[in-house]
Amino acid sequence: MNAMNLIAVKSLVPVVVIEDAAKALPLAQTLFDAGIQSIEITLRTDAAMDALETITKASTGLAVGAGSVVSPEQLIRVQAAGADFAVSPGSTSRLLDEAEKQRFPLVPGAATASEVMNLLDRGYTLQKFFPAEPLGGLAMIQALAAPIQSVRFFPTGGINASLAATYLRDPSIHCLGGSWFVPKASLAAGEFEAIARLAKEAQSIALSAAG
Ligand code: 3PG
Repeated sequence: MNAMNLIAVKSLVPVVVIEDAAKALPLAQTLFDAGIQSIEITLRTDAAMDALETITKASTGLAVGAGSVVSPEQLIRVQAAGADFAVSPGSTSRLLDEAEKQRFPLVPGAATASEVMNLLDRGYTLQKFFPAEPLGGLAMIQALAAPIQSVRFFPTGGINASLAATYLRDPSIHCLGGSWFVPKASLAAGEFEAIARLAKEAQSIALSAAG
């Protein structure tokens, strides 16, 4: 199922690597207060599932995504944990089959024209483009979107505050993700004021690019 309607257009999505689930709720509140509309909790740590569940149960106002979902089994788990959507760095037939069977919103990843076209064939107009900067960044996205006009991208990987506005202004970009405004070390240290500052700065970039 397509996740396009769950992630606001021209928004910035924090890609979060969390080691301590107790930090999940204060983080979600900090981000929401800064104007951020959604969050992606990556399944890369032991604490990620607990963090995801804590945020979904608390109804923080954020759309909650699970990131780094690479197997159908993980998709089933994040759906059970209350996630609103899932994001994958790529796609497999098993993952897509499961998402479609469960009617669960998934943003699968693509990096080549054939991958983009295969996902479009299955109805995924919103696709993650990962890892964005190593793959050629916005220039690569524009080259792909020129002949394949119906796709919208959610790029992540190597993006930072100085690149964000240029990405967001491109018509083929639906939203943009990155970890730069929730630095792992700041989160581990519970530095929520520092995260609030970075998230507000990110949000003002998104607002000015949208306007
Ligand atoms: C992702 O999982 O989408 C990326 O690892 C985030 O990339 P970044 O840490 O370079 O922002």
